Amino acid sequence: MLLARRGRPRGRPLGAAGAPSSLALVPAVAVEHLTKRYGDVDAVHDVGFEVQQGEVFALLGPNGAGKTTTIEILEGFRQRDRGRVDVLGFDPGKAATSRQLRERLGVVLQELAVEPFLSVRQALTRNAGYYPRPRPVDEVLELVGLGDKANARVKTLSGGQQRRLDLGLGIVGNPELLVLDEPTTGFDPTARREAWDLVRSMTGGAPRSSSRPTTWTRPKRWPIVRR
Ligand SMILES: Nc1ncnc2c1ncn2[C@@H]1O[C@H](COP(=O)(O)OP(=O)(O)O)[C@@H](O)[C@H]1O
Ligand SMILES: [Mg+2]
Repeated sequence: MLLARRGRPRGRPLGAAGAPSSLALVPAVAVEHLTKRYGDVDAVHDVGFEVQQGEVFALLGPNGAGKTTTIEILEGFRQRDRGRVDVLGFDPGKAATSRQLRERLGVVLQELAVEPFLSVRQALTRNAGYYPRPRPVDEVLELVGLGDKANARVKTLSGGQQRRLDLGLGIVGNPELLVLDEPTTGFDPTARREAWDLVRSMTGGAPRSSSRPTTWTRPKRWPIVRR
C-alpha cells in the first residue's frame, strides 16, 4: 500500500529536468512499463500506475504477483530491468539521489527488521534519527497503541504488536510517502481498524475511487489495483 501526503514533492518535478518548478500538482508516484525478471521468473511485467498526492493506493494480488518486488523498486531497494519510475520527483534507481529520496519515504517491510533486543522506544528513536524532521517518539507510541510497551524488548511483542511497531517505524520519520507491504497481516480486527484509521488520518481524509491504472497489460497475473 502506498500512502502519499498532500503537497508538492520537493524533489525534481516530474519529467522536467532542469526546468523551473511547476505549481501544478504532480503525482507522488508514477510508474510506466515497469518490468523485472529474476532469471526466468517474470516477477513484474509491463506494469503502470500513478499515485496522486493525498491518496491511499493499494496493490492487490495473490502471493507471487509481484507486489513486494514493485514496492522494493519504488523504495530503491531493488533495481528494475525496464520502465520508468518516479517517486516524489526522484528516480529510485539513481544512487546519487537515494539519500534525498529515503529521507522522504517511510517504509514498512513485509517482515519486521529490528534487532530483537532493542526496546520499542529504542527502535523508534533510532529510526527517527535517520530523518530530518521526525515525529516525537511518544506521539508515535500512542498513535500505534504501544504506549504501555515502550520499554518492552521487541522480541517479547506479540505478532500483532510487532506489526504495530513496524507501522510506527514507518511513520516516525514523518514521511511524504509511506510504503507498506502487507501492513495488517496478523492484526486482530480492532488493530486492523485502528491501523486504517491511522492511515486515513495521515492523509487528511484520503479520496476513495475505483480508478483503473494507466496501463494494465497483465490483468490475469496481477488483477487489482485499488485506491
Ligand atoms: N530475490 C528473488 N529471487 C528470485 N525470485 C524472486 C525473488 N523475489 C521474488 N521472486 C519471485 O518473483 C515473484 C514475485 O514475488 P513477490 O514480488 O515477492 O510477490 P508478492 O509480494 O506479490 O507475493 C515470485 O514468483 C517470487 O518467487
Ligand atoms: Mg509480498
